[in-house]
Amino acid sequence: MKRVVSGIQPTGSLTLGNYLGAIRNWIAFLHTHECLFFMADLHSWTVLQDPAKLAEQCRLVAAAYIASGIDPTVSSIFMQSHVAGHSELAWLLNCITPLGWLNRMTQFKDKAGKDKEKANLGLYAYPVLMAADILLYKATHVPVGDDQKQHLELTRDIAGAFNQTFGETFILPEPMILGQATRVMSLRDGTAKMSKSDPSDLSRINLMDDADTIIKKIKKAKSDAFPLPGNSDDLADRPEAKNLLNIYSVFADKPLLQCCLEFEGANFSALKEALADVLVTALTPIRTEMVRLMNEPHYLDKILAQGKDKALSIAAETLKEVHQKMGMLKV
Ligand code: TYM
Repeated sequence: MKRVVSGIQPTGSLTLGNYLGAIRNWIAFLHTHECLFFMADLHSWTVLQDPAKLAEQCRLVAAAYIASGIDPTVSSIFMQSHVAGHSELAWLLNCITPLGWLNRMTQFKDKAGKDKEKANLGLYAYPVLMAADILLYKATHVPVGDDQKQHLELTRDIAGAFNQTFGETFILPEPMILGQATRVMSLRDGTAKMSKSDPSDLSRINLMDDADTIIKKIKKAKSDAFPLPGNSDDLADRPEAKNLLNIYSVFADKPLLQCCLEFEGANFSALKEALADVLVTALTPIRTEMVRLMNEPHYLDKILAQGKDKALSIAAETLKEVHQKMGMLKV
């Protein structure tokens, strides 16, 4: 059985990075794999959340999945917190994960900042919860953006350590880092990742941005002072040009080299105009459908309840096996 698992934190409006690095790539698996996609609300608490907004943010991510083409009739969409097995397995995996492995996680170092003493334990243990999310369902494939690569390597190491200690139990999942835009960069700084948490909204395209906002953000995107090159090798030290051409290449559905040739010698404004155009064409239907779905919370909640039931049944089997292997008392 080939099974795909992936998730996104409901910590704000989803970005073009989440769409290109994750959701868009999930669609290809819908008819060939059993697919489970969740909202990682437990992970979101590594940063303080507003409880009054969290439920709505979770529905918004579910709406984004469905509006982007994740068909809930052939996949399961659910909340991480609705399946307690995520937390339970995370605890058990914590107990076999050496601190040294977690100390190597670059995302913790970036997010904790200078004063690590003040970082919360959840942020530190975050990659183990992510491993539990994946191993609980014995996922064979995990489609994610480039920034999650190290967490996937850790997941494989933890699965291997468990199997070695307690006998063959977990599948070592394959990271699937797919497409031309595995790392979409900030519109304000081509060397930083586009992120929901960047204080500047101009740094990102949100899936809920309307056409005027998209056009404005692309117009204001950082550029450099040189004409665009006709060769993708010449993009190496031009991060802003590279990022915009990469995004254009995905939405125009043309190889990067062809896009370079299209804009060879032109200035950024020509590329920006064409980019805004393809972005508005691709994202407007998604936004419209998200708005429609957000007006149908009962429908969304029904999908999440169905997803929860399916996830619970798979999780129960894995937990039963883990309990047996770890010698938990059965009564
Ligand atoms: P999160 O919520 O930060 O991001 C969700 C997904 O979007 C991808 N992504 C990007 N891809 C390309 N360019 C970008 N600028 C960009 N920004 C984000 C991420 O790589 C990710 O695939 N820990 C995860 C959520 C998670 C998870 C899991 C994922 C929890 N458990 C189990 C897979 C499997 C996270 O914080 O992603």
